[in-house]
This record gives sequence, structure tokens and C-alpha cells, in this order.
Amino acid sequence: MRAAVIEHAGEPIRIEDLTLDGPREGEVAVRMLASGVCHSDLHVRDGDWERPGPIVLGHEGAGVVEAVGSGVESPRAGDLVALSWYAPCHHCAECGKGRDWLCTGSPSLRHRMADGTTRVHRADGGEILAYLSIGTFAERQVVPASAAIPMPDGMSAEAAALIGCCVTTGVGAALKTAELAPGTNVVVLGLGGVGLSIVMGAVIAKARIIVAVDRVPSKLEIARELGATHTVLAGDAATTIEAIKDATDGGPDVAFEAIGLPATIEQAIESLRPGGTAVLVGLTPFGQRASFEAFPLVDGGRRIVGSNYGSAVASVDFPRYAQLYLEGQLPIDRLIDRRIGLADVEATFDRMRRGEGLRSVVMFG
Ligand code: APR
Ligand code: ZN
Repeated sequence: MRAAVIEHAGEPIRIEDLTLDGPREGEVAVRMLASGVCHSDLHVRDGDWERPGPIVLGHEGAGVVEAVGSGVESPRAGDLVALSWYAPCHHCAECGKGRDWLCTGSPSLRHRMADGTTRVHRADGGEILAYLSIGTFAERQVVPASAAIPMPDGMSAEAAALIGCCVTTGVGAALKTAELAPGTNVVVLGLGGVGLSIVMGAVIAKARIIVAVDRVPSKLEIARELGATHTVLAGDAATTIEAIKDATDGGPDVAFEAIGLPATIEQAIESLRPGGTAVLVGLTPFGQRASFEAFPLVDGGRRIVGSNYGSAVASVDFPRYAQLYLEGQLPIDRLIDRRIGLADVEATFDRMRRGEGLRSVVMFG
């Protein structure tokens, strides 16, 4: 099977022909149908995060189950599944509390199967890791069964793929981490797949004012079409904060940062009204720090919260988001502007570095 591999973090992708073993206990084999290209793949590609290699990149995918290993009750062969990039172990204390997104025993942390081995090999037998145990830039993969979530009838593979990362990360940040109440005023900084999904989540939550901010004008247009009530073309920090405060009558109740830059994290915190919450969704390169003035944070009772994977319990939330899509409440298709092949992923990374375009989706077969 063909797959997009990087030898070490920081090196370009190579398309390779690899062998794939069958699924073992607790695993399923998936024929990939679609995989979105997410900024987190670019972080790994650029060496922002240290990751072992060689590794098949990609973590926003959907496909059809071709075979299941022993002991697997769900999914079943033939199911369309959306793949979760954080397979819960179901044994640790966090899983016990129902907080799958904080699982400490997840195989995804090691980019291997639960037994510590890999199913992907080169012709010489050398093992290849799968990013977050799903490595979706591959025609086929074997993944933990707990990472493969069956989709309802009629679901599109492309939309299912995006539920695997940006939709769940963004919609979940709005609905689950922030628990947005009707009438809330929010700002969203950064309008990639994640930020636009936050906008969609804020619309579902019936937020009153939704200010969308990006440095690329075309992103503001699409945010408006998805329900943003105000848009701000990002300029220097002071001007941007001023514009956000103007649009929200003194500052938002909730400010979402969906870029992963210290500068915009600081803008999110600084824009807040008293009592407001900054929800940090974007991931920075390792080791970066952001700062805030302590007095107004304490004096104004403001809060800073991290949101990983939209506080998702994939087995519950993926089907819920798919249902909202089928009912027309979550227009995931609007996030997709290009369908590409595996060989186009590097060019897509270039576009992403420039902030160009919406989600590109690798289509297989
Ligand atoms: N000010 C405003 N907008 C900015 C700025 C800035 N200084 N820098 C970048 N942006 C915008 C880009 O124009 C783009 O629209 O942020 C958006 C980022 O979108 P993508 O690159 O598509 O990223 P996405 O996949 O949505 O992920 C966003 O979440 O999960 C993390 O690792 C991921 O850190 C990344 C973030
Ligand atoms: Zn992602």
C-alpha cells in the first residue's frame, strides 16, 4: 500500500510502497477513503514537535473496515468509520472518569498499537510508525478498534474524516470545553479548519455575537457565511484587540485562540471582558511561552483554559457531530476546498504556511 512517510520530524514527505500486516486482537483494518490535511501534520513535518520516525503522517481520516481482529465487537467489517487520533485505553483513571481526551494509557501517545508493535513495514522488514496510531496518509491502515467509530447511514466519507480532527476539536471547544450558553459573545482568532469549526459550534450554541479574526481576508468571508456576525482583519495587536472590544461591547465572554501563536494567545486573553474565559485551542511548537498581566486577570475574575481535542469522547461525540451534519446543522462540506492525491500533501503544506485555502482532503481509490 502507498503511504506518505517522513523519516524524521523536520524532513519532507516521501511516498512509499509499504506492507501492512493484518489486524491483531483489539484492532481493525481500514481501507482509507479520505484524509484531511491538518496543521498538526505540518507541525510534525516542520519539526515543531519532536516525534519518532519513520512515521506515516495524517490523523484526520475515514474509511471502510475491511477486517477485524479477535475480540472486536465494534466496528464491524463494512462499516464506514471516522478515525479518532486519541484512542482511549479504557483502563486508566481518566478513562474511568469518562474523560477519554485525557487518557494516560492511549497507544496514540506512542504511535504504535496497544501491544507496542507496528503493523506497517518496509520491504526490508523495518518498522514504520503510524502518527497517533492511525497514520491516515495511507491507502490502508490497521488501527486500535477504539479509534474507529462507526458513522450513521448516509454519512459522507470526507465529512467523517474532518470529524476525526478539526470538527471535533473546534465544535467540541465551543460546546464541551467552553459549554457556550445562548446569548454569549465570543471571538475566534484564526479561521483554519479548527477556527471555522469553532464558529460553527458557536452558531449551534446560539452565541449572540461571533467575531471572526484572521489575517487572510478570504477567511473572513467564509466565516461570515458560516454565521460569524462580525469580522476583523488581524493587524497589530493593539488594533486587533480594539476592534474585538468594539464589536463585543467591551470584550467577549469567551475568546478562542485557534492558531497556536504566543502573540495571538496573548490577544485572546487581553481582549476578555471581566469574568471572561480564554479557551486555548491552537497548539504551539514545544517550549513556547505566552504571558499576561496578572492584576487584571485576578481582579477581573478572568480564566484561561486549555482545550485538547474538543474534550471529546469519540464514541459519543463523533456520531453526534455526524448526526448534526446529516440534519444540516453542521455544514462540514463548507470547510473543504480541494480534493488531492497523496503526492500533493507537501504542496498543501506550503499553502498552509501561507494561510491559503481551506481544508484540502486526500481522496483515495
Ligand atoms: N493572526 C490572525 N490569524 C492568523 C495569524 C495571525 N497572526 N497567523 C495565522 N493565522 C491564521 C491563518 O491565516 C489560518 O487561517 O490562522 C489560521 C490557521 O489555520 P490552519 O493553518 O488551517 O490550522 P488548523 O488546522 O485550523 O489548526 C489550527 O490548531 O490543532 C491546532 O496544530 C493546530 O496549531 C494548529 C491550530
Ligand atoms: Zn489535527
